Amino acid sequence: MERTYLMIKPDGVQRGLIGRIVARFEDKGFKLVAAKLITVTEEQAKIHYAEHEGKDFFPELISFITSGPVFSMIWEGDDVIALSRLLIGKTKVGEALPGTIRGDFASHTPLNLIHGSDSSESAAKEIANFFAPEELNKYNKDIAAWI
Ligand code: TYD
Ligand code: MG
Repeated sequence: MERTYLMIKPDGVQRGLIGRIVARFEDKGFKLVAAKLITVTEEQAKIHYAEHEGKDFFPELISFITSGPVFSMIWEGDDVIALSRLLIGKTKVGEALPGTIRGDFASHTPLNLIHGSDSSESAAKEIANFFAPEELNKYNKDIAAWI
């Protein structure tokens, strides 16, 4: 069982898309382990996007991600890292296909609505950057028992 870090960026929060974006991951059958609305600090932003430091879009990226609240989440499921990125769609909105979150809702990079970890190493680093271990919920997700 795998975990990933997903984050609805400030544009998604401002546009009122939290519910519709979360629904896509629920619909896919993944399990929500933790979630909270937070404002990313400069320090967290630089850790989160460390791989992009020095690139021309880096300053804009840091100012965007710290510009307002984000909805920070941990999701669990089989192959959740790769499958989440499929649901999210390509980075550049001009390449994001309809049916994906970015393809359906985003119109201008870098306002591409949602972040998803790209590997198990990134997921571990990103989860640790945004959550304390006690914030992760332990429960069984057994749909049949609740209907
Ligand atoms: P990246 O990690 O490559 O994409 P993803 O979010 O799909 O994992 O880049 C991080 C963010 O940086 C991306 O969501 C939008 C922004 N960005 C740009 O603004 N211009 C670019 O050319 C790239 C590659 C990314
Ligand atoms: Mg990335």
